[in-house]
Order: sequence, then structure tokens, then C-alpha cells
Amino acid sequence: MTEFAAVDVIRAKRDGHPLSDAQIDWVVDAYTKGVVADEQMSALAMAILLRGMAPGEIARWTAAMIASGERLDLSAVSRPTVDKHSTGGVGDKITLPLTPLVAACGAAVPQLSGRGLGHTGGTLDKLESVPGWRARLGNDEFVRQLQDIGAVICAAGEGLAPADRKLYALRDVTGTVEAIPLIASSIMSKKIAEGTGALVLDVKVGTGAFMKDLDMARELARTMVELGGAHGVKTVALLTDMNTPLGLTIGNAIEVEESVEVLAGGGPADVVELTLALAREMLAAAGIDADPAEALRSGAAMDSWKAMIRAQGGDPDAPLPVARETEFLRATEDGVVASVDALGVGLAAWRLGAGRARKEDPVSAGAGVVLKVRPGDRVSAGDVLLELRTDEPGRIPAAQADAAGAIRIAQEAPEPGRLLLDRIA
Ligand code: URA
Repeated sequence: MTEFAAVDVIRAKRDGHPLSDAQIDWVVDAYTKGVVADEQMSALAMAILLRGMAPGEIARWTAAMIASGERLDLSAVSRPTVDKHSTGGVGDKITLPLTPLVAACGAAVPQLSGRGLGHTGGTLDKLESVPGWRARLGNDEFVRQLQDIGAVICAAGEGLAPADRKLYALRDVTGTVEAIPLIASSIMSKKIAEGTGALVLDVKVGTGAFMKDLDMARELARTMVELGGAHGVKTVALLTDMNTPLGLTIGNAIEVEESVEVLAGGGPADVVELTLALAREMLAAAGIDADPAEALRSGAAMDSWKAMIRAQGGDPDAPLPVARETEFLRATEDGVVASVDALGVGLAAWRLGAGRARKEDPVSAGAGVVLKVRPGDRVSAGDVLLELRTDEPGRIPAAQADAAGAIRIAQEAPEPGRLLLDRIA
């Protein structure tokens, strides 16, 4: 591999020049090996954030991140493989009902997930509230479960896109997360390395998402769809609203509970709508002609959930942890709920202990926020707007302040919002 001086690569991007394939291959590899220092990669990430990257540079950067680690081989799995990735939101528990649902329809879903950081929750944190469930699987176990049950949600192994693992942690502390080339290459390198045949992206837009703006979200979605296609992974993106939290629960065990309600044929309308919309996209991308609504009605999706939980040591029938303290936030006036802000509610749940501030922090299984109202609901002064649940009462005042600021009561009913905003294929 041709060697470069890191400072020349940084200067090139700083001055607005495209990086060559050789420069990209070298800098990603050298950073993974520790030859390029964190401070140099920080400067390069900031230059990429400010100057952007051409499509060819993003494609090469993604390929270099994939090449930094192993690429899983799922050829032993006889079912078509299809995965889903969400760019992250508040109350976004969709992976939990979606994975067993799509598996019940005949696909294999190799869902390698992460933990939450900041106000967005992590799928593994939610599932770890199920007694006995374990997130770590060996590669052989992973492939076997995928073949036998079709549904796996587990932690991504250390060997998958190690360049991203290092770079993501660095971006998190250097103000360089919000760069489309870096987000797209980060997400797609992991999904392509995981070996899935098809992928459906849920790109969140709104206050509780990375992308606050629909045009930026469209650009991110287009970039990822192209990257998938270039690597032989059929990729489709839905753009969905994240101004309002998804469903009525934001936390860990309470989100599992809500997901199980969906699998039992109930659950909040928005969670059901998004689960079915993503399931239909995943099945179409996998070439399977099946009706996911029927798999919910028949109980097949619930059977698949229980099999998936049991295969990873969990007891799907065991009671879930409940937080020790509950505090209520009440309406101070009569009116109509005009908005429930995703970011404010996400921060409240995080303050109650549902999320972590540093990646090594533990999370509380029972903590979180339960919404008692949705936009458009009529309320009277004194009505409960939401429940704050925590194991540590000292966390309540700060959470109360975020939660109170998140709910707006007006005299006029709001225009009904749309959940599905766009589709990019
Ligand atoms: N999720 C990722 O995996 N990477 C990003 O850069 C942003 C969200």
C-alpha cells in the first residue's frame, strides 16, 4: 500500500481537493492500526464535515472501512437475508417486533445492533431487560440461529468494521458526527460487512433525530442507497418522522413490553404502521410474497419472537423489571396537546437512567417515560400527561423540567402529522 504523510491528506481535504483512492485506503488502514493519530483523524473528519466528499470518495472510504475487518459469509443460510437499520430515534423500538415478524414471513434477519448513547436508545439495552437474554453470540451460533429461526438480534463482533468503531467514538467527542459522508459510510460499512443480501433503512427526520431537515435526510438516504447498490446489497430507504416519539414508551423494559403488545396484535397505531411499512419493504427487497399483517394476526410473529429470545438464553414469559419510583407530570391548563417533542422526552428518559452519558455507564432496565397523551388529545388541568419512572428519585427534578418543556398545550387542535415522509430506492 502506498504510504502518505497524514498531514498532506488533511491539507488536501482542508483545501477542498478530492482524496485519491490510494490516500483513502492508506489513511483508513493506518488509522485502524494506530499509525495515524487520533488528533490527525479528528482534523481530517472535521475537514470532511466542512468540505464534503464526492460520491466516488464516499464509495472508496466505505470500501476501506469494510476492508478494515472481516466480512461475514451468510451463504450457508438458505433463506433470503434482509436487514433493517434506523438512524436512531426516541421510542424507536421497531427492530424488536420487526425482526421476528419478517422472520415469520420466511426471511432471515441478521440484525447486528448497538447500544444507545445520549438520548437515543439502543436495541441491545432494551433487550437486556429480558431476564437471561444475552447479546453476544459467536459467528457460528449467529449463522445457526439465522438458519433455524430466521431472527437474530445481537451485538456486532469486534471484527466487523473496526475502523468505524474507532472513528465513531472519535467523531462523538469532536463534533464530527453530523457529516453525511461519515454517517453514510459508517452505517453502510457495518451493514455490508454483516453480509446481508438486502437492506431497508429508516432515516429519521426531526427534533429527536441526527437529521433535523428533510432535504439533508434525503441526501443521506440517497447516499446510502447508492452505496448499498454499489456493493450488491439491494437497499431502500424510508424517511420517517422523528419530531414526536414513536409509541407511548421511551426506555428499555417498557419498550420491550410495548413491542410484545404489537406482536400480540395490539400496540400503538404509529408503532404498528411503521413496523408493517418496514416489513413490507423488507419482504419485497428479499423477494418474498407474504402479508406481514397476517403474521401478526395469526400469532406466527409472536412464536418467532419467543423462539428468538429463548435461543439467546432469555425467558420471554418472565416478568420484566419495573422501576421503583413513578412520578406524574400533569397538565396545568385545559386545551389540546399541540406537540410532544421527541428530543425533550428522549432527554427526560435519559436523565431518569434509561440511557447513558459515557459508553461504559450501565442503564436502568425499568427507567423511562410513559406517555399518556399524543398530539391532538384534549386534556383538562390536572390530567396526567406522562409518567416518569426511575430507580433513583434524585433524577426526577431534571427529568421533570425536560418533560414539561416537551409538551405544548394549545387551544387549537394541531394538523395531523405524517409518519411516512418519503421513500428512496
Ligand atoms: N449510526 C452509525 O452507525 N454511524 C453514524 O455515523 C451515525 C449513526
